[in-house]
Amino acid sequence: MSYQDSESYSAGTLQEPIRFAYWVPNVSGGLVVSKIEQRTSWDIDYNRKLAQLAEQNGFDYALSQIRFTAGYGADNQHEPLVFSQALLAATDRLKVIVALLPGPWKPALAAKQLASLDQLYGGRVAVNIVSGWFKGEFRAIGEPWLEHDERYRRSEEFIRALKGIWTQDDFTFRGDFYRFQNYTLRPKPLQQPHPEIFQGGSSRAARDMASRVSDWYFTNGNTPEGHQAQIDDIREKAAANGHTVKIGVNAFIIARDTEEEARRVLQEIIDKADPEAVNAFGHEVKNAGKASPEGEGNWAKSTFEDLVQYNDGFKTNLIGTPEQIAERIVHLKSIGVDLILSAFLHFQEEVVYFGERVLPLVRKLEEERLAATV
Ligand SMILES: Cc1cc2nc3c(=O)[nH]c(=O)nc-3n(C[C@H](O)[C@H](O)[C@H](O)COP(=O)(O)O)c2cc1C
Repeated sequence: MSYQDSESYSAGTLQEPIRFAYWVPNVSGGLVVSKIEQRTSWDIDYNRKLAQLAEQNGFDYALSQIRFTAGYGADNQHEPLVFSQALLAATDRLKVIVALLPGPWKPALAAKQLASLDQLYGGRVAVNIVSGWFKGEFRAIGEPWLEHDERYRRSEEFIRALKGIWTQDDFTFRGDFYRFQNYTLRPKPLQQPHPEIFQGGSSRAARDMASRVSDWYFTNGNTPEGHQAQIDDIREKAAANGHTVKIGVNAFIIARDTEEEARRVLQEIIDKADPEAVNAFGHEVKNAGKASPEGEGNWAKSTFEDLVQYNDGFKTNLIGTPEQIAERIVHLKSIGVDLILSAFLHFQEEVVYFGERVLPLVRKLEEERLAATV
């Protein structure tokens, strides 16, 4: 079944406005591995202001990154949970999605930290469970490195444990990776039934996990056809499991007054790419989807140019004028996308431009499409 053709699905999503998230630059070097000027900073003052601008300009979520060592440049990396707390303190409505890596994090500690953050900041916490691709990083911090599908098996147990701790008293769990005996967390998170759980990854194992336990599935950048195939696959499997999962799509957005200008910026980013850092990243990501049994998944087919934005964000092609970008976003919505995860060259300036120039067009198109269906 294609969800493009599914009336009940389209009608449901058409009534819900598409949501927007942005990548928190809590690591240095911006979101492209390029020597082009980036008026983006990883420091906390810049990020507090960015979070405030984002919530004033219609963004719903801020997603942090977890890195223990440099991976794609990113020579400095702030810890995401601590950093997220500072963003929560600086904002009123924005939700923060804290990235956590099973292995270094254990579910008992993660559940407790996130429950407290949720209580302290009015129910605005979410979590992104990252399954890992960076063997060198695990080795550097003395963490055992599991094979591809084993990492997802562990992540799934991590998510089941989080949900159990957050929603039950006397929680008991017997997994291969985690065990709990009559554990009661107090206080529980403010949000009911529990804070939203996001995950990324494109491999078979990642998609299967999403179709069983995650609230949200993040894709890397892709073409609309590529996204459609992933979405249909996940939603079909989720329906068979009696589960629902929302979809977030990654995109590096270059919105400019003319298409030529936007394309020129993209070309300059690629021309000024840092080949050493991009190639080192390309070498490391062989432990991701390519190492899965089916040999597909994140970065398995990415070119040098794609990897300059390290989550394939150029591929989604939200590059052009506000009108072109709004049209493409609404098209993504029509194939089942619930959220756009965005990155920008100059974050503060561009979230404002996006909020003022692109978002009103998206909302207008959404209203027109909705009116056309009734
Ligand atoms: C939106 C998004 C955010 C991610 N954030 C992180 C992160 O902060 N740290 C990290 O090590 N990996 C991160 N990942 C990587 C994934 O958890 C996963 O390891 C990777 O996508 C490989 O997936 P695959 O092997 O299933 O294809 C992210 C992926 C996506 C799509």
